Amino acid sequence: MRSRVKIILTLCLTIAICAAFSLAYAATKAPEGDLLIHSKDVFKEFKQGPVKFPHVKHKAIKCEDCHHDFKDGKNVWKEGQEVKKCAACHKLEAEGKVAKLEKAYHDNCVNCHKKAKADNKPTGPIACAKCHEKKEK
Ligand code: HEC
Ligand code: HEC
Ligand code: HEC
Ligand code: HEC
Repeated sequence: MRSRVKIILTLCLTIAICAAFSLAYAATKAPEGDLLIHSKDVFKEFKQGPVKFPHVKHKAIKCEDCHHDFKDGKNVWKEGQEVKKCAACHKLEAEGKVAKLEKAYHDNCVNCHKKAKADNKPTGPIACAKCHEKKEK
């Protein structure tokens, strides 16, 4: 009888540990669904609407090409680490080397789409209205 209880307890513990790990992992894995980028805390007034971002369409690209954390000019962020919002570092206006949020997004998204297009490769939107949804009223 005793050993049975032990086995069951061990099993429960194992399941709990596994669940905790997969939760922690899920928080650092690229989301399967589309994200809606709409930095309300930075842009108080929007000239454009929110932007849909499908991670899935960017599977072929290394995480480090978009996610970063610089130490001594080097990107020290690695896949699996916690992901901070771009707006955690890029603000309404540029601060030293840190570009303002609007520029950070455009330099990242639009420049890459333009480059892929120039190379005749599959690419994402370049026109404003293809990225920015209609502005909310
Ligand atoms: C590849 C996608 C993409 C394209 C194309 C694009 N943008 Fe953006 N833009 C973004 C993202 C992402 C943001 C950040 C939005 C946020 O955080 O709310 C942004 C932010 C902005 C902002 C600051 C927020 C606001 O609404 O005031 C402006 C202004 C803007 N874009 C204008 C433009 C204009 C004008 C064009 C066309 C010349 C353009 N964008 C093309 C992705 C794009
Ligand atoms: C083409 C650019 C790009 C690539 C490649 C990319 N991401 Fe992202 N990721 C983003 C953007 C943009 C956001 C939204 C950031 C924000 O809201 O400030 C984001 C958000 C996230 C989030 C937070 C999700 C949430 O719900 O807030 C996680 C976790 C993440 N990425 C993980 C990854 C991992 C892991 C990889 C590589 C397998 C990856 N990303 C590749 C651009 C990218
Ligand atoms: C932890 C802080 C931090 C986060 C989070 C962060 N950045 Fe940056 N980013 C920086 C710093 C610092 C630099 C300047 C690096 C240098 O030149 O030394 C930079 C540089 C850039 C550059 C190149 C500079 C330029 O003028 O074009 C782009 C593009 C960029 N970030 C886009 C993004 C995007 C998009 C996200 C979100 C997916 C993001 N960043 C998240 C800190 C951050
Ligand atoms: C390093 C290059 C790169 C960066 C950075 C990048 N993209 Fe893309 N994006 C691509 C490529 C390549 C495709 C086409 C993928 C395919 O069709 O296989 C794409 C596709 C897309 C699509 C899908 C278009 C469709 O037809 O379904 C959207 C939307 C998009 N990108 C938005 C964004 C936004 C918003 C950002 C910035 C937050 C961004 N991308 C950053 C390379 C990039």
